[in-house]
This record gives sequence, structure tokens and C-alpha cells, in this order.
Amino acid sequence: MKIASIGSGNMGGTLGRRWAAQGHQVMFGSRDPQSDKIRNLLQAAGTNAQAGTVREAVAFGEVILLAVLPSDVERILEETGDLNNKILINCTNRLDGKSADLEVLRLAQNARVVRAFNTLAWEVIANPQYGPMSATAFLSGDDSEAKEVVTRLISEIGLDPVDVGGSANMEKIETAMGTLWGIFSPQFGRDYSLRILRREADTGDR
Ligand SMILES: NC(=O)c1ccc[n+]([C@@H]2O[C@H](COP(=O)([O-])OP(=O)(O)OC[C@H]3O[C@@H](n4cnc5c(N)ncnc54)[C@H](OP(=O)(O)O)[C@@H]3O)[C@@H](O)[C@H]2O)c1
Repeated sequence: MKIASIGSGNMGGTLGRRWAAQGHQVMFGSRDPQSDKIRNLLQAAGTNAQAGTVREAVAFGEVILLAVLPSDVERILEETGDLNNKILINCTNRLDGKSADLEVLRLAQNARVVRAFNTLAWEVIANPQYGPMSATAFLSGDDSEAKEVVTRLISEIGLDPVDVGGSANMEKIETAMGTLWGIFSPQFGRDYSLRILRREADTGDR
């Protein structure tokens, strides 16, 4: 697929690199596509990656990852304008307790918004493997077809996708994950993760 990443920092850089390594065509949309930072990122991401302006990346991508700081979200979504029914993956988090999901749903013009990756530290996305298991990536959104596409993009980089439904559920998960972060990160650092263990219901046929 053609994927645009608006943001080339911890989240955008890591996800873009990983998708490029899987054979996707990735364009990083940047304020300064010629910067040393972008040059180094492109070197690490290989020949499937390129960089351009935010507008060029948005025109290029069938899927657009929004991976900027919360303070930049409004300005960038004004700049991108009509997103032509493309899939927009929102991994942004706000630090003021307000919902970054509702903000992007309100501001993104004509986009199929899927919320994903926001519950994971970038270090976990860079390496989601814990022995034989991998970290769970929750996703939410109202468009099932868009969620199917994002589910595949999650699986391809070795994460375990779990669709939690719509915004209301995702907000509850974010709150819960924030609480757990306060308890576990002092002990395990940023590299710990959670996995939803599931199995077929026991039918009692023994
Ligand atoms: N870090 C994590 O582990 C983590 C986990 C879950 C969710 N998140 C969320 O993900 C989002 C990104 O976090 P991050 O850690 O990746 O931040 P980051 O490393 O600071 O990267 C932010 C990126 O936004 C870019 N940017 C800012 N304004 C821009 C503009 N006008 N046009 C194009 N690019 C612009 C920056 O480019 P410049 O280099 O030009 O400034 C930078 O590449 C945040 O909302 C955060 O809450 C982060």
C-alpha cells in the first residue's frame, strides 16, 4: 500500500520504517523533507521510503498516519484539508485528559478515522515480540472496512490487533492503560506491554 506518515519522530519514524520493511511504499510528510533527521530516517527505512511536504504525502498515501504532538494536530488537519475518504490512523494522545479521538474525528475532513497504536510505547512498536508472544495493539473506529485494512497493517509488523469497537470503548481503554502505566512503568520501564490472552470457549466435551 501507499502509506503517508505525517510526523517522522518516535511514532511516525518507527511505524514508517517497519511498514517500508514489509514492502509498503511510505512517504514521510515533513516541514523540512531535506533535513539531516529525515535523511537519516530514509537511510534506515530503505528504498521503499521517501519524504515530501505534508501536502505531497497526503496526496500520495492511500492510508495516512497522523503521528504529531497534540499541539500540532489542529494546524496540520487544517493544512491537509479534504482527505478524500482516505483512511487516517490516529495515534496521537493528548496530555490534558481530553479525548484525542474526538478531536481528530471532529477536525479531519472527509476521512475514515481509525484509532490505533496510541496505547503502545514506540519502543514496543519497534520490537513487539516477547518470546513467542507479541504485544496487543487495540484499534477502534466506525468504518469496518478501514479497520480491516489497519488490522492487516498491525499484524504485518508483528503486533496482535484487537478491535474494541468505537470511540467510547477506546476511551475507557486509554483511561485504564494510563492507570496501569502509572503502576507498571516505574517497575518495568517503557518496554513492558500487555497482551489479551483468549481462547475458544470451553464446550465441556471431555
Ligand atoms: N512516543 C510514544 O511512545 C507514543 C506512544 C503513543 C502515542 N504517542 C503519540 O504520538 C504522537 C507523536 O509522538 P512522538 O513521540 O512520535 O513525537 P515526536 O517524536 O516529537 O514526533 C513528532 C513529529 O511531528 C512532526 N511535526 C510537527 N509539526 C509538524 C508539521 N507542521 N508538519 C509535519 N510534521 C510536523 C515533527 O517533525 P519535526 O521533526 O519537524 O519537528 C515530528 O516528526 C503524539 O501525539 C504522542 O502523544 C506517542
